[in-house]
Amino acid sequence: MTKIVSLCKRRGFVFQSSEIYGGLKSAYDYGPLGVELKRNIAAAWWRSMVYERDDIVGIDASIIMHPKVWETSGHVAGFSDPLVDCLNCKERFRGDKAPRAEVGSEVVFQEGGKASGKKLKGTVGACGYVCPVCGSPNLSDERQFNGMFRTTLGPVDPLADFFKEIKDKNLDEREMRAQYEECLKRSLVYLRPETAQAMFVQFLNVQQTTSMKVPFGIAQQGKSFRNEIVVEHFIFRSCEFEQMEMEFFIEPGTQDHWLKYWTDERMAWYRKYANTPANFRLRQHEDNELAHYSDDCYDVEYLYPWGWGELEGIASRTDYDLKRHGAATGSKLSYFDQNKTDPETGKPGWRYVPYVIEPAAGLTRTVLAMLLDAYHEEKSVDANGQEKIRVLLKLHPALAPIKVAVLPLVKKDGQPEKAEAIAKELRRAGLNVACDDAQSIGKRYAKHDEVGTPFCITIDTQTLDDQTVTLRDRDTAQQERLTIPAAIAKVVEACRHP
Ligand code: GAP
Repeated sequence: MTKIVSLCKRRGFVFQSSEIYGGLKSAYDYGPLGVELKRNIAAAWWRSMVYERDDIVGIDASIIMHPKVWETSGHVAGFSDPLVDCLNCKERFRGDKAPRAEVGSEVVFQEGGKASGKKLKGTVGACGYVCPVCGSPNLSDERQFNGMFRTTLGPVDPLADFFKEIKDKNLDEREMRAQYEECLKRSLVYLRPETAQAMFVQFLNVQQTTSMKVPFGIAQQGKSFRNEIVVEHFIFRSCEFEQMEMEFFIEPGTQDHWLKYWTDERMAWYRKYANTPANFRLRQHEDNELAHYSDDCYDVEYLYPWGWGELEGIASRTDYDLKRHGAATGSKLSYFDQNKTDPETGKPGWRYVPYVIEPAAGLTRTVLAMLLDAYHEEKSVDANGQEKIRVLLKLHPALAPIKVAVLPLVKKDGQPEKAEAIAKELRRAGLNVACDDAQSIGKRYAKHDEVGTPFCITIDTQTLDDQTVTLRDRDTAQQERLTIPAAIAKVVEACRHP
């Protein structure tokens, strides 16, 4: 991870947000190469979900939705984590993620959580866990912390209203808080914590405008926001991140078939872009992990440097969401299939609330997984017999930020002009191209290996004589001499999506 984080900064994939102001914890900016990688992954997902099929359409919904959406979805009441403070080292953490310990057992920890601190003993309380940092069982009670970012819509000042309301009333702290919430509520909105709800809320509009027949899906990509208690592992868990979600609406009773179908599809999608497909696996949720509305769920997991962790959740969400939004708004969020028989009445035609299978992936987390999968170090020996390490990002060419670098061997004899002309042709073919004449050719190859550029086209004196170039392959470092059209055709072909 340290190497990836350093490469990301050094080469312009990911920067700390607001770095010159000391940085903002858990916020990241994607640099010139990072934005290309992220867009390429998003495009690969959109392509496989929307363009390559005729049963899924896309939407791009507003980040701020009606606040009642989040009451109906259960996020206002339920999207909260148990927050705990360690009374020994002052760490704040999530109780449900803390290391488990037997209730009543005795544990040893360092005073203040410092290596130099006195060794102390304590007894594990009824919560059954200890502090993840110092191992102390001396902890505060859990308090629920809602993970949604709140803000207000419109030119309002809830605080001014609040002061007006409490004036001359002798309220205690609890009453004041309730009054404040009441004032806030008049203009309160949330930043969406997931993209999914818009697909449920717009189900009817999409179905009616497209005449899609069940089974069909609605796909969306975009930013989501969660005020995470623990932000960790670089871009793995951040407060602002991007999701790629698809809600697939199906006939009730067919959820086992479609869950199997979508877990297979999604696994195949990750594996076809990966160097080490075995580092992607599927894990079925235990019963106690399932959300109350879900009758089955799988995680696509990746083997991160700290172990297996979630990359995507694929949930069978039953008819929970459409039913809830239908009941809350009085809208008929259902589907009529005239070719089916109603199983209850036995009459032709069946109106039902569709069930949903939801593959919910993290785009920014996939960027991390693809960087980890691509990072390779190779030992080699240079011309002087010195051992050196070649760092290369073996990104699939379809995902690579720069597809090809065009490199004149020298900055004279018409070589830079020839390089520009070839680059122009490659750009016309739709590729992101770098034309690079700085530094020695060896250094330029090394730089492009490190940022994952799958091909380098080198212009030399022979190019101007016979219109041939050398095409260097990033992964093998082998070069072959080809005509210019043959080199371009080879690059274009290799950059196709698998
Ligand atoms: N609509 C269902 C849903 O949002 P989720 O498992 O909470 O499900 C889906 O999120 C995916 O979004 C996760 O598998 C992960 O890849 C990504 N994700 C969730 N929280 C994240 C965070 N704080 N930072 C980065 N990615 C996150």
